Amino acid sequence: MVNGRGAWHSAFWVDRPTGRPPPRRPVIAAHPRPVAVVTGASSGIGAEFARRFAARGYDLVLVARREDRLVELAARLEADHGAASTVLTADLADPAAPGALVRELESRGVLVDALVNSAGFGTYGPFEGEEPDRVAAEIQVNVTALTLLSRLLLPDLAASRRGILVNITSTAAYQPGPSFAVYAATKAYVRSLTEALWAEHRGGRLRVLALAPGPAETEFFDVAGSDGFRIGQVLPVPQIVDVAFRALDRRDPPPSVVAGLRNRATAVAAGLVPRRVVLHVARRLARDPEVR
Ligand SMILES: NC(=O)c1ccc[n+]([C@@H]2O[C@H](COP(=O)([O-])OP(=O)(O)OC[C@H]3O[C@@H](n4cnc5c(N)ncnc54)[C@H](OP(=O)(O)O)[C@@H]3O)[C@@H](O)[C@H]2O)c1
Repeated sequence: MVNGRGAWHSAFWVDRPTGRPPPRRPVIAAHPRPVAVVTGASSGIGAEFARRFAARGYDLVLVARREDRLVELAARLEADHGAASTVLTADLADPAAPGALVRELESRGVLVDALVNSAGFGTYGPFEGEEPDRVAAEIQVNVTALTLLSRLLLPDLAASRRGILVNITSTAAYQPGPSFAVYAATKAYVRSLTEALWAEHRGGRLRVLALAPGPAETEFFDVAGSDGFRIGQVLPVPQIVDVAFRALDRRDPPPSVVAGLRNRATAVAAGLVPRRVVLHVARRLARDPEVR
């Protein structure tokens, strides 16, 4: 099931002049703008990545569940940057979604140059209080969908002259997260996977980056049920995305970047200090706002 309708729906496909299925490669040849797929484009960090790619001359494939948000963003990207957007609504908690998404892109003849896996969510509270179905969905969206989209689109990305893969991890990836246990574990996975892919592609054309934001004022904390809970240096979303593009624009991009000097220092320290101490501090921070 995709968005409860059982079918993929394109609400905004600028290159759709006829009812005929578009041919795969000729469309791209006639239309040389690169294409970026951004999941989680309906809000926060994903929406900002979509704006930046549009400003850099990319066309977009916007993925999330909230179609109205994606259609609104698509219209803005076209007005502001002349970018053509395809809106694909998808619930990435559905195990069938990544495969269906990629089949849809193939059937439209879209070759992908950049992929940003930004869709993700967390859950605040003790592990034993978490709804099992929500735990499964969190792992499905944060881990499985991200992994499968990376895998399924990798041939396109690697074949592109300017291939980019950005996976959004978190400062939570740098130490376990009491009260955010599943979320932190999923982000540690994303960091590990992405850094391994960086190593596999080092020296090739594909640039691979794990971006670790600290706390950002998006819908993240509302969705997680942890309003008011912020650990670390809060940065504006555009600044976080700047960090990613600065890294990607380097001649030899790093495997991962942490946004914010203070967040970077904390991440480094977490790797140096004994685990018991890291966990003690993490637990106190999660429980006691006074020590943050
Ligand atoms: N904000 C922070 O403090 C922070 C810090 C570190 C890392 N991150 C990470 O940054 C990424 C972006 O988060 P954000 O801060 O921009 O939060 P956000 O504003 O809540 O955006 C999350 C995005 O993920 C999409 N999403 C969530 N569940 C989905 C599902 N089942 N299927 C499809 N799309 C889904 C949402 O779209 P729909 O609801 O429309 O489906 C939305 O576009 C996430 O991976 C998050 O873990 C955030």
